[in-house]
Formats: sequence, C-alpha cells, structure tokens
Amino acid sequence: MVRRGNETLFLVSYQLVCTHQGCKPTLPNPERNLVCPCHGSAYKATDGSVVRGPARQMLEGIRLEVRDGVIFAVGNLS
Ligand code: FES
Repeated sequence: MVRRGNETLFLVSYQLVCTHQGCKPTLPNPERNLVCPCHGSAYKATDGSVVRGPARQMLEGIRLEVRDGVIFAVGNLS
C-alpha cells in the first residue's frame, strides 16, 4: 500500500511467466485478468490466482518494498 496525496494505491507484482508451460501472459484486460496467449490460461490481476486453466498454480509473486517513496522489487514471495 502506498499513499499518493489523498489516494491509497495497492500494488501487486508477479513474474509474467505462465505456470502452465512458461509463456508470457498479457497485461490485465478490462476484466483485470492476465491472459496467456499460448493455451488461454487466465489469472486474476489482483492476486495472481488462476481464473481459467489449463494452468493450475497461481503466478509467482514478487515482493515490493517502498523506501523513501521509491518502489523496489526485492525478491520472490515463495
Ligand atoms: S503456457 Fe500459458 S496456458 Fe499454456
């Protein structure tokens, strides 16, 4: 969570590697899903969970830290 003026932003970050066979899912569509172009798996952009297979595992999360107003990707969540 990051404060920007009167706004509160919730940031999430994932490895853009499909857990089915490793293709690169697209950026979120209007339904806020990341869709893999190879076999159609879809992941919820808000938490990386699988919306549609064939993938069975959620996207791997990346830990973010905010230091002095700068966002850093500091490692994997698993
Ligand atoms: S590699 Fe993504 S659905 Fe198969």
